[in-house]
Amino acid sequence: MSDLVDNPEEYFRQFVPLRGALLSELEEEALREDIPIVGPVVGELLFILARVTCSERILELGTATGYSAIFLAGALEHPGGRLVTIENDPALASRARNNFSRAALDRLIEVRVGGALEEMEKMTEPFDFIFMDIEKADYDGALPHCRRLLKKDGLLVADNVGFKDAGPFNRLIAGSSEWKYVNLFSFLPLHSPEHDGLCMALRL
Ligand SMILES: C[S@@+](CC[C@H](N)C(=O)[O-])C[C@H]1O[C@@H](n2cnc3c(N)ncnc32)[C@H](O)[C@@H]1O
Repeated sequence: MSDLVDNPEEYFRQFVPLRGALLSELEEEALREDIPIVGPVVGELLFILARVTCSERILELGTATGYSAIFLAGALEHPGGRLVTIENDPALASRARNNFSRAALDRLIEVRVGGALEEMEKMTEPFDFIFMDIEKADYDGALPHCRRLLKKDGLLVADNVGFKDAGPFNRLIAGSSEWKYVNLFSFLPLHSPEHDGLCMALRL
């Protein structure tokens, strides 16, 4: 069997997917302003997962400037496809709306301003895919809403599950028979932070 490459992190940094001017600008802005975004590897992963699941309705919890939402909405293929994204900071929500217009994705994306748990409480429409990227201490409280709002066999992706505050969420999903899940602890170039866990869970 062949040996693993030397310095795998430096090696894989050279294969980070290419992206356009707007996404590069949002990455630079995020670095400058310390806005935690998923970066191009998880962004592309979200695109691929949304596309292979043929997702028509996607829910995102935690919009920030709209970086990850641009990948998710870009994956929508169905003419009625829609992304709903929730952000509790009105100034960030407004910046995200502006970025969605610049990406010509605004007609596919609805930004709701408010707390994710409170907004989800009001929702009844089913989703194919949920991406969770809010305050980590809110993850366990959001999980029952994700279960209720996802269709059977819908996909939940939770970012940053390597954070201590995601512990209650990790334990809840691990002890539940309502999900089939996996945690991947990975090197994620340009993700905030670059070493972190991602949870992918199928709603049974
Ligand atoms: C990690 S950032 C989201 C990054 C974004 N998903 C991306 O990769 O481009 C988390 C965002 O969620 C917002 N947020 C945190 N807790 C929230 C909550 N309970 N409800 C709604 N928004 C929340 C924060 O204001 C912040 O903008």
